[in-house]
Amino acid sequence: MCGIVAYIGARPAAPLLVEGLRRLEYRGYDSAGLSLFSDGAIHTRKKVGRIDALAALLREKPITGVVGISHTRWATHGAPSDANSHPHLDASGKIALVHNGVIENYQSLKDDLLREGHVFASATDTEVLAHLIGKAYAANGRPDERGLLDAVREALRRVVGTYGIAVLCEDCPGAIVGARRGSPLVVGVGKGENFLSSDVNAIVAHTRDAVYLSDNDMVMLKTDDFQVERLDEREAKVQISRIEHDARASEKGEFPHYMLKEIFEQPQTMLNAMRGRFNRDEASAALGGLNMTNAELRAMDRIIMTACGTSWHAALVGDYLIEEVSRVPCEVEYASEFRYRNPPIDKNTLILAITQSGETADTLAAMREAKRKGHKALGICNVVGSTIARESDGGVYVRAGPEIGVASTKAFTSQVTVLALIALHLGRLHHLSAIQGARFIEELEAIPEKIAQILKQSDAIRTIAARYKDARDFLYLGRQANYPVALEGALKLKEISYIHAEGYPAAEMKHGPIALVDEQTPSVFICPRDAIHEKTLSNMEEVRARRGRLIAIATEADEEIRRHADDVICVPATIDPLYPLLTNIPLQLLAYHIAVLLGRDVDKPRNLAKSVTVE
Ligand code: G6P
Repeated sequence: MCGIVAYIGARPAAPLLVEGLRRLEYRGYDSAGLSLFSDGAIHTRKKVGRIDALAALLREKPITGVVGISHTRWATHGAPSDANSHPHLDASGKIALVHNGVIENYQSLKDDLLREGHVFASATDTEVLAHLIGKAYAANGRPDERGLLDAVREALRRVVGTYGIAVLCEDCPGAIVGARRGSPLVVGVGKGENFLSSDVNAIVAHTRDAVYLSDNDMVMLKTDDFQVERLDEREAKVQISRIEHDARASEKGEFPHYMLKEIFEQPQTMLNAMRGRFNRDEASAALGGLNMTNAELRAMDRIIMTACGTSWHAALVGDYLIEEVSRVPCEVEYASEFRYRNPPIDKNTLILAITQSGETADTLAAMREAKRKGHKALGICNVVGSTIARESDGGVYVRAGPEIGVASTKAFTSQVTVLALIALHLGRLHHLSAIQGARFIEELEAIPEKIAQILKQSDAIRTIAARYKDARDFLYLGRQANYPVALEGALKLKEISYIHAEGYPAAEMKHGPIALVDEQTPSVFICPRDAIHEKTLSNMEEVRARRGRLIAIATEADEEIRRHADDVICVPATIDPLYPLLTNIPLQLLAYHIAVLLGRDVDKPRNLAKSVTVE
C-alpha cells in the first residue's frame, strides 16, 4: 500500500524513479510524485492519477539530478489530488518527504504546529511529519547530514502510528535518510549507487543485494555506502540478503493482464508449492521450515489461523481441510479483529498467519500480539524476506512467484495447497493411516493437471460471462469446503467488476439472501459431486423456483445438473476436501471475463491496493 523508491548515485534519477514506481504501481495508484536535487535545490513534480500522468508532467517540465525520492499513493488521509500527493515539504521548503503508513496522532501534532504559525498545503498526515522534521532540523542548528538524521529521529519519536519514509534535504545533497516502523523498507545495495524502496520489485532490475530494514531502523543512504542505526541509537544488525528473482516472472508476457497470466500460471505454481514437500516413505508431508518437531506439532491441540482478504478465505478452506484430515480443531480470525480482541488462547495453540505479501499490517500485528503472549506463530507467506516471513517462528513459503494483479488468484491456490500439506502432515501425526495419507498425496498431485483442463474452458466461460455481465447483483453459494470458495468467488467479482456479489452458505441463503432472488439476479452454485451434492441441488431448486438464473460449477459427467442450471462449468472429480482447488478456478475466470467485458481496469481496480500496510 503506497510505494516508495529513492535513488542516490550517478545516473539520471527521474527515469529510474519513474520506472521503479511503475513496478510498484500495484501498491497504490491514486497519485504519484518525486523530488530531486537539481542545481542546489529540491525540485518536486507530483500529479493525481496513474504513474503515466506523472511521466507526462515530467516530459512537460523535466528535472535532472542524480538523487531523488518518489512515491505512488493509496490515499488514507486526504482525497487523491495534486496537493495531497507526495512528496511533501516542510515549512522552509528545504526538506522533502515521502511516506507510507499512517501518523495516527497527526491531528494533535498539526494543531500544535498551526498554533505556532505553520501553514499546510495539504490534508495529509505526511505533511505534518515533514513540518515536524523541518522544525527539529531548524532547532538543532546543524545544517548537515547528522543534523538531518537527528531531526528525523526526534520527529519520529513524537509520532504514533506506522511509517516507511524517505527524506531529502537541500543542505545534504549527498544523502537520503530513511526509516521504518510497520511499513516495509529495503535498501538496494549497488556499486556507486544505492536504492531505498518499500518493495524489492522496484530495485531488482538494478541490484540483487538487499538489506531488509527492521522496525525502528533508520538508514543514511549515500552514493558509496549506507549506515543503519536504531531509532533509540542502539546498534543495528545489518545483513545483506541476495534477492532471488526471475525478471520474467514480473512481466505480463503474451497475456493482456497480469491477472489472466497469474490464473494461467496456477498448474505450475501449485506444482512449485508441492515440490520436494512429500515424504513418500511416511505418506506424509516434509515441511522443514515449520521448525517444529513431530512431538511439538502433535502437542498442539488447536490452531488459530489469522489473515485478511483472499488469504482469509484460504484460511477458511484450510480450516475445513485440517479439521477433516487431521481432526485438530481450527479457528479462523480476521487479523483486524483478532489483534484487538483478547480471546482466551490455550498454551498448546498454534498460530498460523497467512499472507501473500507478508506485509499486511493487521496480519503482522495479530501475529506479533500472539507471539508477545508466548504462542508459537508460523507464517504462510509468498514474498520471501517479507516482515511476517522474517518475524514468524517458522513457516512455509507458498512459492507462487510475484503476484502483480491486485486481485489475488495464484497465491490463493498456493496457500490452500500448503494448508493441504499441513493438514496431511498433522493428519499423519494423528488419525490418518499410511494408506489414507498416500491416497491424499495422489489426489493432491493430480490437481495441477486438472486445473490445466479447467483453464482450457476460458473461452466458454467468457461466453457465459457475456450473458451475465449486466447483472447488478450476484449470489455465490456453496457448502462445506466450497462455502469459502463462494466467498472468494464473490470477492473476485466485486473487486474487479464492481458488481455487488454476496457469498453465502447455500442452505443458509434461505434465511435472508433468497429475498434478493429474481430474474435479474444470477446465483453461482458451487455444486461438485461431493458428499452433500443432493442437498446442494435442492438449494438450487429453491432459487429456480423463484425464477433466479443459475450458473453451476459441477463435476464432469454430472448430466443431471444440466436440468437444474442455466449454465454449467465443469471441473474434474477429486476428493471432497480438495475440491476448492478446482472449483475456485472457474470463478476466477468468470470474474475476470465479466470485468474485461465491462471495460474495467482488471489489474488496478479502483480504491484497492495489493499490499495493505495500514490498518
Ligand atoms: C489486499 C489485497 C488482497 C489480499 C489482502 C491480504 O486486500 O488486495 O488480494 O488478499 O490484501 O493480503 P496478504 O498479502 O496479507 O495476503
